[in-house]
Amino acid sequence: MKSKSFQGRLAVVTGAGSGIGRALVLNLARQGCKVAACDIQSQAVKETVGLAGGGREVRAYIFDVADREAFFRHAEVIKSDFGQPANLIINNAGVGLGASVREMRWEDFEWLMGINFWGVCYGTQAFLPQLIESGDGHVVNVSSIYGMISGPLTSAYNAAKFGVRGYTESLRIEMRAEGLPVEVSCVHPGGIRTNIAKTSRLATSAGLAQADFSKWFERITLTSPDKAAAIIIDGIRHNRPRILVGPDAHTIDLMQRTLGIRYQWVAGALLNPLMYGKSRKVATAAPPPAQAAPPVSAEPATKAARRREVKAAKAVAGRAGAKPKSAA
Ligand SMILES: NC(=O)c1ccc[n+]([C@@H]2O[C@H](COP(=O)([O-])OP(=O)(O)OC[C@H]3O[C@@H](n4cnc5c(N)ncnc54)[C@H](O)[C@@H]3O)[C@@H](O)[C@H]2O)c1
Repeated sequence: MKSKSFQGRLAVVTGAGSGIGRALVLNLARQGCKVAACDIQSQAVKETVGLAGGGREVRAYIFDVADREAFFRHAEVIKSDFGQPANLIINNAGVGLGASVREMRWEDFEWLMGINFWGVCYGTQAFLPQLIESGDGHVVNVSSIYGMISGPLTSAYNAAKFGVRGYTESLRIEMRAEGLPVEVSCVHPGGIRTNIAKTSRLATSAGLAQADFSKWFERITLTSPDKAAAIIIDGIRHNRPRILVGPDAHTIDLMQRTLGIRYQWVAGALLNPLMYGKSRKVATAAPPPAQAAPPVSAEPATKAARRREVKAAKAVAGRAGAKPKSAA
């Protein structure tokens, strides 16, 4: 935002019921910012609003960010409730999924993409007209350090977070090219001590027990949600295109830029023993039935394979000067 002060501005924060989102709401409210705190969990977001002092300036909204219509509806409701267009949208809501590509169920993959990728796009596009109208807008999309490097068992999370980064960086270039009054920042947190590990979905055959995963996550996280919120808000104030959160995020960013694609060797060496744990034993097990190819592609694939077979047979027969039986 052009303005260095949040006083009297209107911010919309998703995933406001816990972790980074809750800390952002409390920090912004302390600075006199009006906040629409959004979450899918009604009790949790009402608690956040209570902690912020509530009243007319900080209000709770309950909807699923993966529901495009609901997001666009809420954009109108929020504008009308506060009587002004939003200046700031922080697309922060997110979930985790631990599953190898081999074993990942489509429903889990789509669940994660709905929230972590599409939810960010819906929030951006639902509020963009208001941000432009405000004359002083800012889009803040929360990716991850996993939007810069990949790890084992996090393909869906990586896909969503790399996607958020690409989408957000493109938006920033567009806003500048079109001379529109909207700043854009992409946030890349390292490990932050929040509830995300506890609510992550883990494929049972990955060998990662929920309790072990949460314990491991607590051990490796270096930054509190309050500190993360302070870094993000400082980044917004300075219109930073990329906001790295935590010392681990800075180290990983440097490693990726220094090593290039060879970062994968380091990431594998460090993360494989932690992420796989006992699962090395199940790595050769047959994938669960949900992994089977969707039936719609079965028929065309068979026909295409048949056409290739016929073509190959014709070519061979042509070379041998004989008519192939299969071409009849
Ligand atoms: N904690 C970390 O180490 C870390 C690291 C990198 C990036 N991030 C990202 O930071 C963001 C915030 O995560 P967090 O760590 O504070 O997690 P968290 O679990 O503490 O909070 C996430 C919030 O999002 C809400 N939410 C989940 N699904 C939703 C939906 N469909 N619609 C609306 N709200 C929904 C949850 O109810 C919860 O209140 C996420 O995008 C996450 O991917 C977190």
